[in-house]
Formats: sequence, C-alpha cells, structure tokens
Amino acid sequence: MRNTLLLLCGALMLAGCCGRPGSDSDLPVYADESQPIEKRVEDALKRMTVEEKVAVLHAQSKFSSAGVPRLGIPEVWCTDGPHGIRPEVKWDEWDQAEWTNDSCTAFPALTCLAATWNTEMSALYGRSIGEEARYREKDVLLGPGVNIYRSPLNGRNFEYMGEDPFLASEMVVPYVREVQKNGVAACVKHYALNNQETNRLRVNVVVDDRALHEIYLPAFKAAVDGGAWAIMGSYNKYRNQHCCHNRYLLNDILKRDWGFDGVVISDWGGTHDTRQAVEYGLDMEYGSWTDGLRSGTSNAYDNYYLAHPYLELLRNGEASMEVLDDKVRRVLRLIFRTAMNTRKPFGSLNSPEHLAAARRIAGEGMVLLKNDDAVLPVDLAKTEKIAVIGENAIKMMTVGGGSSSLKALHECTPLEGIVAAVGDRAEVVYERGYVGDVTGAYNGVTTGRDLSESRTEERLIADAAAAAADADVVIFVGGLNKSEGQDCEGADRRAYGLPYAQDRVVEALAAANPRLVVVLVSGNAVAMPWIERVPAVLEAWFCGSEAGNALADVIFGDVNPSGKLPFTFPVRLEDNSATALGEFPGGKDVVYNEGIFVGYRWHEQQQIEPLFAFGHGLSYTTFAYDNVRANRGSMSDGGSVRVSVDVTNTGDRAGQEVVQLYIGDDASSLPRPVKELKGFEKISLNPGESRTVTFTVTEDMLRYYDDSKGRWVAEKGFFTAYAGAASDDIRGTVRFEYR
Ligand code: BGC
Repeated sequence: MRNTLLLLCGALMLAGCCGRPGSDSDLPVYADESQPIEKRVEDALKRMTVEEKVAVLHAQSKFSSAGVPRLGIPEVWCTDGPHGIRPEVKWDEWDQAEWTNDSCTAFPALTCLAATWNTEMSALYGRSIGEEARYREKDVLLGPGVNIYRSPLNGRNFEYMGEDPFLASEMVVPYVREVQKNGVAACVKHYALNNQETNRLRVNVVVDDRALHEIYLPAFKAAVDGGAWAIMGSYNKYRNQHCCHNRYLLNDILKRDWGFDGVVISDWGGTHDTRQAVEYGLDMEYGSWTDGLRSGTSNAYDNYYLAHPYLELLRNGEASMEVLDDKVRRVLRLIFRTAMNTRKPFGSLNSPEHLAAARRIAGEGMVLLKNDDAVLPVDLAKTEKIAVIGENAIKMMTVGGGSSSLKALHECTPLEGIVAAVGDRAEVVYERGYVGDVTGAYNGVTTGRDLSESRTEERLIADAAAAAADADVVIFVGGLNKSEGQDCEGADRRAYGLPYAQDRVVEALAAANPRLVVVLVSGNAVAMPWIERVPAVLEAWFCGSEAGNALADVIFGDVNPSGKLPFTFPVRLEDNSATALGEFPGGKDVVYNEGIFVGYRWHEQQQIEPLFAFGHGLSYTTFAYDNVRANRGSMSDGGSVRVSVDVTNTGDRAGQEVVQLYIGDDASSLPRPVKELKGFEKISLNPGESRTVTFTVTEDMLRYYDDSKGRWVAEKGFFTAYAGAASDDIRGTVRFEYR
C-alpha cells in the first residue's frame, strides 16, 4: 500500500530537493537512514511549518494520523492489539471496512501469556504478532496491556498480565522488544491506574504514592526501560486530571523521571482539554470524536484538541513553540523508527509458524488447578466415550470483548480440538448444558455459527447429566465469555460467580459422573462453590486461533501443563482486598484503600486462604525441592546473595516447573507484605533429572517505596528468601542479612 521510499523520493523531486532519486547521498538528512536519528529529527523539524507540526499530533482517521506529505514523511497507522491485528475499520467510523485480506492469527489473551511465566513465550508472542502487524503495514501496535489485576470484576483483566508487578514487568519487556524488531512500535497501555471499566472516562483514582510506585507503575517502567516507543494514556483520572494529559504521570514521572523519549498516545476519546493536552504530556490525540467527519463543520479532525484549537493558542502566543517542538520530535522519532524505516523486515501473516506459536503459548499457559485421582490426562487407551458439555466448547472467543476483538482466519474451538485429537479412538458426544450468549457477532465480524437453542434450562441440565452418566469421562467447558458484563471492555463483570446457571450444570455433572474435568475459559477468577465435588479443574483462558488444539494437547497429555496463576482466585469476592475495603468500583472517586495489599499480598497479610493462590499450577509429574541455601549469610551495599535450590522431577513424565523466589522483610519501619515475588525461572526436567536453580538477590529487590521520602529504600536488617512452586507452596527458606 505505502511504499515509503517511492513516496519520499516522489515528494522530494517535486520539492526540488532530491537530485538523483534512490541515492543515499542525495537524500536530505532527515531521510538518510545512515544518519543518527536525533540529527534526522532536528533536520525534519526545522523544515516543518507550524501547521505541519500540529498536523502530526492528531488523528486524520480512526486509526491513522498524518505525516508531512510535502516532505514525504509518511502517515502513522495504529492497530489494536494486544492479541492479534484488528480488522480494518472504515476511515471514519468503527464499522468494518469489509476488507477480505485482513484476517489474522489470534494469539492467546495476555493473562494466558503471563501464566506461562516464561519470558521466551513472551518473546515468541511479540515476534509473531509484530510480524503480523508489520505485514499489515501497521506502525503502532496498541498493546500490550499491563494494568494490575486489582479486582476479579474488572472486565478487561484478560488483556493484562496479572496482579504482580514483578511478573508483569518481566513478561512485558520481551513482548515489546520483539514487536519493535519489526519496525512496529509497541504502545503499552493503559497508563495508568485503569483497573476497572465502570465509569472509566470519569472515575478519579485515589491511591497512595507507595502503592502507585510499588504496584501500579513498575510494569510500565519496565516497558519504558525496555525501550517501548509508545505508551497510551488511560481513560480514568488520577489527581483529578485525566491520565491522557496528566502532569504528574506524564510530565513528571514518565518523561522526567524515567526519561521516556517516545510518544504518549491518547486512548481513543481520552483527550478532554487543549491546554491540558498541550501542557501535560500528550503527544498524539486519537478517537476524540467517534464519527469524525459527521460531527464537525468541515473536517472534525481539524477540531481535535491538538488541532486548530492548539494552533490558535500558538498563534496567540498562549502556547510555547518549545513544548510543540518536543511533541513533534517525539512523533518524528516514532515515524523514523517505524513508518519511515526502510530497513525493517517485511513481516508475515497467518503463517504456520504463527499458528504454532499461538498453540505453544496456549499450551504453556493453561493452568492445572486441581487434579485428584489423576483424572487428567485422559488416557484414550482406556476411554470409550467422552462427554463434552458446555457452551464454551463450541463458542468462538476471538470475536467480542471490545477493542481486542479479532477477525481470525481460523479458530479451533475446544470441541473441534478434542474431536480432532480423539479421531476414531473413542466416541465423543456433545451436550450444551447451558445457554449463554448466542449472538455470534461483534462489530461487524460474525462467527457464522448458529448457537440458537430452544431447550429450557431444566432440559439442558437433564440432557447434559444424562450424557455425562453414560460416558467414561466428562469434560465441561464453561467459564466466562466476551459478552458485556463478563470479560469485556466497557463494563465490569456483574458477579464473581459463573453466569448462566453453570454452577447448577457442574453440580449435576458431578452427581452424574465422578470423572469430571471442569475447563474454565476466562480471563478472570471465578467462584467455584462445587470445588469439593469436582476432581479436576483446568484454567484454559481465551486462547485464540488454536484454543481447541492447545486444550486437547493438555487434556490428552501431549503437553504436560506448566502454567501458573498470574493472579489469586479468592474463594469469595469479599476476600479480594478492593471489595473487602469497599472501593470497587467506587463512585466519582475510587479510593484504593488496600494500598499495596493487592492479590496475594492481601491474602497473606490477612491470612485469608485463597481458592487457588498466585503462582499455583500443577503438572502431570511432580517436583521435589531440596536444599534451599544461600552462598553467604549477608550482603552489603552493592553486593548480592545467591539463593539456590535443587529441583528434581520425581514423577514419570518430562515436565516444566516454574521455580519461584519470594522475599520477605523480617522487620521494617513501614508495613510490608509477608513476601513478594522477586524471581522465577521455568525449567524443563526429564523424569529423575535434577537441576540447581540460582537467583541473585540484589539490594533493589529488598526495597520499598517510602512515600514520606519520595524514594525507594532498602532498610538494613534480616530478610527471608522463600523458594517454592507457588506463593502458598514454599518448599524452603533461607535468611540473610542486609548490612
Ligand atoms: C481502548 C484501547 C484501544 C482503543 C482503540 C479504546 O476504547 O481502551 O485499548 O486501543 O480503544 O481501539
């Protein structure tokens, strides 16, 4: 579609500044890729008129902004993100453009990626989605999302990486780096404190500085330190300023303290005021009016906050050229890194490698929560009949959920995956069990599947129980879906329990057949009142194109599960700290009364046993942990202690284990969590094989953020290192002194 070089040279010839097209030496400095990027930025900047400068700061269509046509500087094209490349919408509307070449590979939701606890999976994800973005000629991928899992009711948790800042920080960086190797910017979102959908455009978050720095900001900082070229401001307010133009978050923390040199992009419709947008850190404004050309007099995009109104301020001397130039420099840097980078690879779309990546990440992310009596894996040699029950077994989940909705070229549902894996080795029967959402269409993308159903709830349950009673093993595939009020943008979940009377179905199945596997397709924790009566539970997430095949890999044992929960499953909603302390979803203000005590930090401090703990996840094999030890008893400033543990595969299958390191401060001036994740490593072991895993503990891992001092502090004294298989499955500890 766009050939940057041709466009550039064409424009330059017209402008009379390019003698011989195609020769590097004839190019102006800004177009010469052998020149340092900052030199190119300054060169372009000085050639641009004020009008041209303002024109690059706001959208020209739903997902694009103008370049500088006179200088051959190309447009910027954005795409959602974060699980695949969004299908094209019309120039000026959210409706589908109805292209036929814009289907993509749907990768697993980010909760699943986080559950792999494997940075290699994160790199594979970033590389693959980056290649798809590049092939589709996108310059900015709107993702990944790293908002912290504060409440299981947040409708967008599935797009994020869980409740722990360390885990999210480790997982976000490889994604960002690998995307960007394709000459596509990762736009990390939603900065910051976007932890609910209720009132998302209006709510003002009130959080103490300590929680801000310890819990909510680290993953964004890691992405910035990891080289992210773009960041998206969030819809909500903080300190009563919208986060898309927030002096404290954008100017002070992001740009001054962290030295971010990329662009701040508004969330779509997240800009509300020209002066604030100018002064408080916004660089590119998108989506302010949903149907641009209809709501303006001539061209609504000209009326964006960072368009004519900004130009007016500049012309009247009410806005400084210096601030304008800072924004334009950032946009030019973005363009040179992406759209105007002729050295980037070409990318690829819907390749077998991308499908394989999606399947692999999905298989590694699935979390075996419970597996009594070794119900899983299902041994086909001993199974004649399998009953698959549940709407989520037949429902396409790539369609729906808000802006991350996709038009996947191919989506294998759980039932299809199971049927394909079983072949003629056993009989597979299916029963619906419950009816959830039968719409099968989202924003113009249709699944093409008829999910209509006329049976009553009683009949559906009775039919499901009858099928279950007659089978050797029952696989119930339920959970949430991407409909409003579930795992979906724009609203939060209505309840913590499973919707559509699924609890009744599960109870009936458990009564009908003791060999019951509950597979949850969701991006959130759910209540499990039936847990004592169900022997096996698998959290299977939203897994995209290869969901069904990946599920079958785990169910039949071709993949030995190795995922670990990236967030806590409370028994009851009241056990979650945001709910317990009364501020979710809040009102005009939402006060984060729980401070730093989010997720397992809260459960451990309050000694509230979770249903399933952060870091929990079983395997078809077992691992022994021995000899947790430190190489020395103390460390001083600049020093370190190495904590090691020997891990052995004591079962009869090869498997992977995520060895986790937590650190607790034995005594401190400010209250601290019992322990916090500070290291993890995923290792692969054959039966009988042992490995020593060593973590290097440094001073930064001992710190907390002291809000009275406004900085990170490590206090001298004793600390405990905990090594284990989950936050609630610590296999050994060792104390050391920081002095
Ligand atoms: C979402 C963003 C998304 C944008 C563009 C907004 O509603 O919050 O995550 O990238 O739309 O679709």
